[in-house]
Amino acid sequence: MDAVTTRTEADPAFRDDVLAGLAAPIRAIPSRWFYDRRGSELFEAITRLPEYYPTRVDTMLLERHCPEVADIAGRGDAVVEFGSGSSAKTPILLRAVGPSSYVPIDISGEFLRDSAAALQAEFPDLPILPVEADFMRPLELPAEVSATDKLGFFPGSTIGNMVPRTAVDLLRAMKETLGCGAHLLIGIDRVKDPEVLIRAYDDAAGVTAEFNLNLLHRINAELDGDIAVDDFRHVARWNEERSRVEMHLEAKADLAFTVSGTRFEMRAGDTIHTENSHKYGERDARLLMLASGWKVVRQWTDEEDMFALLLAEAEAPRFAP
Ligand code: AVI
Repeated sequence: MDAVTTRTEADPAFRDDVLAGLAAPIRAIPSRWFYDRRGSELFEAITRLPEYYPTRVDTMLLERHCPEVADIAGRGDAVVEFGSGSSAKTPILLRAVGPSSYVPIDISGEFLRDSAAALQAEFPDLPILPVEADFMRPLELPAEVSATDKLGFFPGSTIGNMVPRTAVDLLRAMKETLGCGAHLLIGIDRVKDPEVLIRAYDDAAGVTAEFNLNLLHRINAELDGDIAVDDFRHVARWNEERSRVEMHLEAKADLAFTVSGTRFEMRAGDTIHTENSHKYGERDARLLMLASGWKVVRQWTDEEDMFALLLAEAEAPRFAP
C-alpha cells in the first residue's frame, strides 16, 4: 500500500492571515497562529523556564491575594474566564471565591471540553457552563448566571499580546459581556530592565526560539509551504517607544519560498514580525483600564514589581466635565 501522508486541514483564516501578512510591506503574522498542538506544548514548556517569570509570579500573586479578591468582589459570584484555563491558575481563584458557577469561554470547543472535564473532577459540585465563542466580541452568557454577580478572570498577561487599541476593544467587550457592577481580575506584565525582558523571550535553552520557528513548520504543514526553516533565526527585541517585546523571524540569507502556490522573496536581515508583548507601568495599566470603562480597585505586585494582578470594577456610565 502507498504511504499515506496526513495533512492537517487548513483553516481558511490562517491561510488569509499568512498570505496577507507575508505580502504586506512590514511582514507580520498574528501571534494567535502559534498555538497548534506543538505550539501549545512549547508554550507550556516556556512557562516552566527559569527566565520566563510571568507564569510563576502571576501564580504566586493569585495564591497570595485571591482571598482578598473574594473579600472585595464577593463570594459566590459566577466566575467567567476568558480563554478557558487549562492552567493551574483557575483552581486557585475557584477555591478562594467558592463561586456559584464557573463559565469558561474559549473559541476552541475541544480545549473547552478538556479543561472543563479536568476542573469538574476537581470541583465535582460546581456547575460548569462552558461557552464556545470568540470573546473578543461581546457575547451572551448562559441564562443561569443572568441574575448573579460576576467576576471576570483573564490571567497570564495575554492582554499584552494586543496592541493598546485592540486591548481596549477587548476590555470594553468584556465589560459588555459581564455587565455594570461586575469585577475583572486581570494579570498584566510590568515594564522592567530590557535585559531581563529579552532573556524571558530568548531563553538559553532555545525553547522560545523553537516556539517562534514552529510557526514556519505549521505554515509548511498546513498551507503547502516549502519554507527552509533553518534559514530563519528567532529574534526578540525591546521596542522602547511602544513599550513592548517584539518577536521576529529573521532571514539569515536572501531566500524565496512558496506558500499555497504564492511565491515570496526575502532579503538577508528581513523579518516576519510574529508577536508583541506589551509591558505596562502601574499608571499605564490604570489608564488602560479606565480607557476601557474599568476602574482599578486594587493592584497587587511582587517585591520586585515584575508582574501585577489588578482587580477592577465595571464603571457605570456617567457625565464627565
Ligand atoms: C501568552 N503570552 C502572554 C505570552 C507572552 O509572554 O507574551 C506568549 C509568549 N511568547 C513568548 N513567550 C511567551
